[in-house]
Amino acid sequence: MNFMCVTRLKAASFAFLFLISMRLIGCSPSHSIRFPPAVEVSNLQERPSLRILAKGHNRRIGVGAINSILKYSDYSRKLIADEFDFLVSDYHMKWKWIHPHRDLWNFDISDDLVKFAQSHSQQVKGHALLWHRSLPDYVKSSPISWNEVREHVETLMIRYRSQLSANGDKTLFAWDVLNEAIGDVDENGKVALRETIFKRLLGANYVDRVFALARVTDPDALLIYNDFGMELPGPKSEFALAWLKELKLRKVPIDVIGFQMHIPLWKKGALEKFEANLKRYSDLGFQVTLSEIDVALFSSEKEFRSMSEEEVNQRLEQQKKVYAGLMRICLRNSKCIGLSPWGLNDSDSWIRRTFGKSYEAPLLFDERLRKKPAYWGLHEALESP
Ligand code: G3I
Repeated sequence: MNFMCVTRLKAASFAFLFLISMRLIGCSPSHSIRFPPAVEVSNLQERPSLRILAKGHNRRIGVGAINSILKYSDYSRKLIADEFDFLVSDYHMKWKWIHPHRDLWNFDISDDLVKFAQSHSQQVKGHALLWHRSLPDYVKSSPISWNEVREHVETLMIRYRSQLSANGDKTLFAWDVLNEAIGDVDENGKVALRETIFKRLLGANYVDRVFALARVTDPDALLIYNDFGMELPGPKSEFALAWLKELKLRKVPIDVIGFQMHIPLWKKGALEKFEANLKRYSDLGFQVTLSEIDVALFSSEKEFRSMSEEEVNQRLEQQKKVYAGLMRICLRNSKCIGLSPWGLNDSDSWIRRTFGKSYEAPLLFDERLRKKPAYWGLHEALESP
């Protein structure tokens, strides 16, 4: 046995002894969330997928925040194809990526997503035609004209509007036409339309114009207004309701209101408040969707690190109740077209990347792609609404 082997053997035995001793004194190298073992069922065929169960209720179950689909593992792609009937791009249909310069378009990644959907009889919800974030410099810095907005919207919608999925459905069945046009609640509790570059340069009726343009460009697509922070009654929800009512009176062609649902671990009372609030929008004649669901488990890293495994598992059970509650609310509201979590598994979550919360676990599948209690929450709600 040569020198190198001996050295490696010594190193390996030291590492082994180190790990054993760490375990014995009770501190594992990293305090990671260890979920209950994934629910192993004897015959997977007996447990229908979310998309099959949802279809039985005439609802859609999608998955959002999908990045480059070709970079996912085979197993991830299998889960995406088996469990969901529509896909939403995380970033690669946004202006900054797909149209980074006036004369340059990057369609590859969104084309891949559309092709994947087509080959699995799925559809795609386009996200997002107009958003004040993820804009390229030439839009942010130079006065953008209506003609440039129109060219961007028409090019994207025309490229995909005639694409069909394997089952003959339009692949691009819906578009988040406008994202987050309502501003945040100010210090006086007041809310107004967000002062975006589009509002500033095109006037407040840019909203009317972009939805009218989207309607004529793809008359069959569902046109969505998508926003966050209006799930529960409060200043933003009151403003949104009044504003959308006004748009409807002006016959602005908005079909669906998307409630993003980036929420903490709601307690029971919140679900009731949300259901009543959602009904106020559907009673106006809008369809609704829960568009970007993630249910955060922890208020801080300190809280996470202070919790025992048992306490973490209790949080996961609470998270399951929230997902099940949201599914039942969607099933009870005939105007709810369906829902979609914002990401496949916890490692994908924007919350981890954006806020550096590597311990957060807001989605249906864990880091090892195992079905969490949250997944079974949706499943059980669909099996017994
Ligand atoms: O792909 C580029 C990479 O090439 C580059 O090197 C890197 C350098 O910054 O950026 C990469 O793009 C990042 C992209 O996510 C893909 O990962 C962008 O920087 C980053 O800003 C972008 O963040 C996304 C964010 O929207 C802004 O577009 C999040 O992943 C996405 O989950 C988040 O989603 C939004 C919804 O669209 C609207 N509702 C709120 C939600 C959360 O903010």
